[in-house]
Amino acid sequence: MLTQTENDALTLVSPGTPMGNLMRRYWMPVGMSWEVEPDGSPLRVRLLGEKLIAFRDTSGRVGLMAESCPHRGASLWFGRNEEDGLRCVYHGWKFDHTGQCVHQMNEPNDTDFSQKIKNVAYPTAEMGGLIWTFMGPADKQPPLPEFAWTQAPEDQRHVNKTYEECNWLQAMEGGLDTSHAPILHRRLTNDTDLPGVSPSMPFVRGKAPKLEVDETDYGYAYYGIRQLDEDKLHVRGYHFIMPFTQIRQEPFSGNDIVAGHMWVPMDDNTCMVYNWEYSPSGTGMEDQELVARILGTGPGEQTPDFKKVRALTNDYLIDREAQKKFTFTGIFGVNVQDHAVQESMGPIVDRSIEHLGPADKAIIIMRKQLAQGVRVVADGGDPAGTGDTYYNVVAIDTVMSATADFREQTRASMFPEPVTS
Ligand code: FES
Ligand SMILES: [Fe+2]
Repeated sequence: MLTQTENDALTLVSPGTPMGNLMRRYWMPVGMSWEVEPDGSPLRVRLLGEKLIAFRDTSGRVGLMAESCPHRGASLWFGRNEEDGLRCVYHGWKFDHTGQCVHQMNEPNDTDFSQKIKNVAYPTAEMGGLIWTFMGPADKQPPLPEFAWTQAPEDQRHVNKTYEECNWLQAMEGGLDTSHAPILHRRLTNDTDLPGVSPSMPFVRGKAPKLEVDETDYGYAYYGIRQLDEDKLHVRGYHFIMPFTQIRQEPFSGNDIVAGHMWVPMDDNTCMVYNWEYSPSGTGMEDQELVARILGTGPGEQTPDFKKVRALTNDYLIDREAQKKFTFTGIFGVNVQDHAVQESMGPIVDRSIEHLGPADKAIIIMRKQLAQGVRVVADGGDPAGTGDTYYNVVAIDTVMSATADFREQTRASMFPEPVTS
């Protein structure tokens, strides 16, 4: 349970808010690299409550700047992307990828007025098929997001994104909450091959899991442990990386694939969920279409602006007949099922009336770490997860001996040595 003040401090992300200040200490995804082409259309970007424009210039560099033109406020989305700059169509002021004004069509050429004008702009980097940005103080910029998946060859990784109509924190809480998975995503029968119905998951076996959370300098590693029989444990190991990343095993893909989500706040009431996967061994990525169909992010499931076709406004096209016979929810697609319950809470859930239990331990510790991060930033320090210690961590899903310590048995897999080239 949180007071309204505590809830605001963890959820609101606009400039100057406590969480907004914390978020601005990390690299965060802006969009997919393919969304902007050299001299192509500018892209509207909503990030941490700021209205921005991304564009790729003639030389291939990505600029990210305030949408509002610093002259008199017209939207640069209408701008002309030409000759290494974006030109406002109102009076022809042109800005390069750093936001520097380089030409003004409505002023004489013999003044240095343009040199004095710089739009609000943020640095960008491209990695793992995504454009990333850092929106905080320049002297606090952390190392680039060199996760193992962003460094994997293109044919061994996959990333997509989905717009979610609720605050980023309740979306992420749904992702970190392991106890819902065999309930919300349950299939009621094996007697169906309906697309969008998740296959039987091994973690449905056994009793409710015991949850162990080990705090680290990037967030925590956590484990859902189920006793299968006297000799065997089923262990799922995950990582939470500050402030909005989870790493897990992809349960639908034969456990060759490490997957994850990033819940990136667009503003207080919406977030963009980035879903990525990669194969450390280079195998197992062949069934991407099947995975996408099961998750409900396959062709025809999203609009061109990444919104769900099965959405809050149409009750996710719930099928009550399917709910009786086939699945717990009657809603098609695992990700859509997640979004349905998270969005059903309203834009920002009222955490003053919730009742958390032992199964919510990972959520409780995550909130504690975020609150700690907010305090550290307010005191001028560096929050957790701004180093590079988490790049190689891997999630696991495995059955092991119940007689030896599960941490001993999983350490080498969860925390592999960095690969040196
Ligand atoms: S408002 Fe953009 S150039 Fe005048
Ligand atoms: Fe889920």
